[in-house]
Formats: sequence, structure tokens, C-alpha cells
Amino acid sequence: MTIDPAAAPAREAPTGARRPRIFSGIQPSGIVHLGNDLGAIRNYVALQAEYEAIYCIVDYHALTSTHDADQLRTRTREMAAGLLALGLDPDRCTLFVQSHRPEHTELAWLLCTVTPVSWLERTPTYKEKVEQQPHDINHGLLTYPVLQAADIVIYKASLVPVGKDQAAHLELSREIVRSFNRRYGDTFPEPEAVFTEAPTVLGTDGVRKMSKSVGNTIDILGEPDLIRKQVMSMVTDTLRIKRTDPGRPEVCNVCQTHRFFGPDYEEIWDGERTARTGCVDTKKLLADRLVRHYAPARERYLELMAHPADIDEILEAGADRLRPKAAATMDEVRRRMGIR
Ligand code: AMP
Ligand code: TRP
Repeated sequence: MTIDPAAAPAREAPTGARRPRIFSGIQPSGIVHLGNDLGAIRNYVALQAEYEAIYCIVDYHALTSTHDADQLRTRTREMAAGLLALGLDPDRCTLFVQSHRPEHTELAWLLCTVTPVSWLERTPTYKEKVEQQPHDINHGLLTYPVLQAADIVIYKASLVPVGKDQAAHLELSREIVRSFNRRYGDTFPEPEAVFTEAPTVLGTDGVRKMSKSVGNTIDILGEPDLIRKQVMSMVTDTLRIKRTDPGRPEVCNVCQTHRFFGPDYEEIWDGERTARTGCVDTKKLLADRLVRHYAPARERYLELMAHPADIDEILEAGADRLRPKAAATMDEVRRRMGIR
């Protein structure tokens, strides 16, 4: 399912009616990048108006790759500030840190018992991680998708806004739900992924998915000079060698990114096709637009980071608000499984 955030009506659902619940998680892996925003966060923001939205900074998941305690604490706060700066509103959604609701790990263990190891071993992200960190193939990497399923189903969420790279994890969550429901009776809804119009954002190399671990990001809340430098390093149409060669906007990552930062992108594409404009012009324009677009969010981000106690308060309140929901699911699950 795709929901275009621009088309999503920004209105409150009628009070009294129970709004469908959505859930998503994001790793505290440093500052947010353009792929996070276009692929997921724009939907988080759009959907909080219409749904009962729960967003989680998944520090337990991050422990599978980040082993520095201070770094993890700092990044968790930075991610919270980033999400709030980009438009998550604590009055309209619940934002919290995964480890503040430890019921997630209890449920993950219980779900492990309905999950064949073979499902986990064939998960594409697990295979990638085995290659990326061959000296640290910890058990958490294998169990990662079970914890992710627990995150979602502990709140019985039915929709999950994510980027395309999470599609396999979501499919696995659905399989785990089916496996649990088959064994213990109908308990959890099968969660469905929700994608934006940009489900896979390519990195500055124009080839691989934008990702911090690849080092091909555009750090949207960074200094304007950093954003400019990253945009100017973007690979464009590799067949456009000379300035006079016609460009192919369909395969040019810079042109594709323009789609999301102005209604005139077709004119920009036409300039490329006819070689009226060069790649450098198109990149400069994109850099200007990104800097301008994200300037207010950057300001909010810096303001929030200057008041860490305010961030911590929002996160604590979020986790407290979820306590009864998590407890109710755990009671039901323990009863169904015969452990209480
Ligand atoms: P992560 O930083 O891996 O926790 O990702 C947070 C969210 O951003 C997830 O929903 C991802 O699917 C999404 N995301 C991350 N990188 C990209 C990308 N390059 N394109 C689209 N979505 C992405
Ligand atoms: N695996 C997701 C990522 O790397 C993060 C995540 C953890 C998540 N739990 C989740 C996403 C639950 C959606 C729902 O981006």
C-alpha cells in the first residue's frame, strides 16, 4: 500500500471513533538522512493526523551493531530530536524508546518459539549484516526480525510505515503472526507495510540505497555547507559526459530527487533532456532547495538538542502512555501460552 503524504488529508479523525493503529521503528544510528525522510518519516508525519500513531526509537535493535554506550545514548536523543524537528508532534503521536518498554523483549522471546530458525537465516538483511560485520555475527542479528515483529504486534498495530528495504522484515512479521495465531488462536492482526512515493532513495553514489553504513547519505539536518557538499558529490546520468550531451532524467538520481522538492521538476527534467542546463546547475538548484526546505527543521533540531531534558520528558511520557497497552497484550499472550 502506498500513501502519498502530500495527498494525505491533514485533519483529525472524528473524536470517539477508534482510529486504526500504526507503528514504526527507527534505529538510533546517528543523524537522519534524506532516505529516512522521503522513505519513511514523511509518512510518519502525514499519518499521525489520521491514525493512532506509535513511533519507536529502537535502541535494542541498534545494540546488534553499536557497542559504545555513550554513543548509543547520544544517538537515541539525536534521533528523537530529529523526528520531532521533522514534524512528529507529541500531542498527536506517541514517541518512545524501545528499551523503556521492556515487554518488547519478553514478547520477542515468546515469538521466537513460533519462529523457525530457517526463516531467520534466509532474511536478506541478516545475510547483508553477516557480510558487513563478519567479526560480530551476534545472535541479536539473527533474532532481529522477531524483536521487530514483537514491537509491532505488542500494540496490535495493523499498518507500518517503512521504506522498501523493510519489506522482507514486514513479510516475516506477518509469517510470525500467522504462526502464532495458528498455534494459540487468533491474537494478532497481520501488519501491512505502508510505503511513500519514494520507497527506495538512492545514495549520492546513485547506485546503492542511501544508508549511513555505506556512507552515501545526505544529512538533511546537518550544516548547510555539508548538505551542499553532499549534493554536489551526487552521481548523475553516467552517460552524460559532455555538457552538450542530452541528459536522461529517468535515470538521474538528482533529477529524481527534484520530484520531491518543487512542483516544477518536469521543467528541470526538460532542461536536462535538451542540454539547456548542465548537471552542475541542476545539483546547485537541488542543494539550494534542500537547504531551504530543511532550514526550519534544522533550527528546531538545534533548539531541541539545547534542551535535552525536554526531549527526555517527551520520551518518558510516551513510554508511560504505552504501559497499559503493552501490559494488556502480555497478559493475553501469557494466558494463551500457558505461562500464567
Ligand atoms: P533505519 O535508519 O535503517 O532504521 O531506517 C529507518 C526508516 O527509514 C525505515 O523505515 C527504512 O526503511 C527507511 N529508510 C532508510 N533508508 C532508506 C532509503 N535509502 N530509502 C527509503 N527508505 C529508507
Ligand atoms: N528494522 C527497522 C529498520 O532498520 C527498524 C524497526 C525496528 C522497525 N522495529 C520496527 C520498523 C517495527 C518498523 C516496525 O529500519
